[in-house]
Amino acid sequence: MKILFIGDVFGSPGRDMVQEYLPKLKEKYRPNVVIINGENAASGKGITEKIYKQFMEWGAHIITMGNHTWDKKDIFEFIDDAKNLIRPANFPQGTPGKGITYLNMNGKEIAILNLQGRTFLPAIDDPFRKVDELIEQAKKRTNIIFLDFHAEATSEKQAMGWYVDGRVSAVVGTHTHTQTADNRILPSGTAYITDVGMTGPYDGILGVEKDVVIKRFLTSLPVRFEPDTTGRNQLNGVLIDISDEDGKANKIERIMINEDNPFFS
Ligand SMILES: [Fe+2]
Ligand SMILES: [Fe+2]
Repeated sequence: MKILFIGDVFGSPGRDMVQEYLPKLKEKYRPNVVIINGENAASGKGITEKIYKQFMEWGAHIITMGNHTWDKKDIFEFIDDAKNLIRPANFPQGTPGKGITYLNMNGKEIAILNLQGRTFLPAIDDPFRKVDELIEQAKKRTNIIFLDFHAEATSEKQAMGWYVDGRVSAVVGTHTHTQTADNRILPSGTAYITDVGMTGPYDGILGVEKDVVIKRFLTSLPVRFEPDTTGRNQLNGVLIDISDEDGKANKIERIMINEDNPFFS
């Protein structure tokens, strides 16, 4: 089972990159499943139904979210019908949507989970206790389990990786928008990376127009964060190969496409 995961798609620059490169990545790597983190897909904040449907048309199977899930009011209109969109499972009980879903690919089932960290992020339920619950639920159906852990602190993400090592096929970190070079297979067979990185502007600051962010650091005055649409774009992702037999990962490879790291098909 090959999974292609694309990190936080940020605004129209990110969507343009997905539209342009997803077909090329599919041709090159032939993934069985494509998962996209879409929490920043609509102008850097949240997602709309139109964008969700676009991602599906362009070849995504599952969309994961994060702390920006509720930023666009549109989400409340469609989340309950969007069967391939998941938001962090440890949001408080009573929140719309779901945090786990299953896909059947050529007779083989895969469970996809989304959780959010609590360090330097809003207080929500414990992702560690929640992951135990979800793994128990998923294991009844499949041993191929993929987790997008949306968190700020590297320590919390590493802790999650080690905590689920051998119980989950892959843990990919999202949210910091900067790809880390620590992709590895943990000793009990879990593919891990602290952060996949962001898909969107290459010359901004985490996707936002840079002068605005610099002004914020210089003055502490309130500013309006807008996606940087003035420059070059990038795409960041990972390709994970998982054994259909035991759900252990064989390989996790980083994908980074930008002008300094061009894509070769
Ligand atoms: Fe993000
Ligand atoms: Fe985030």
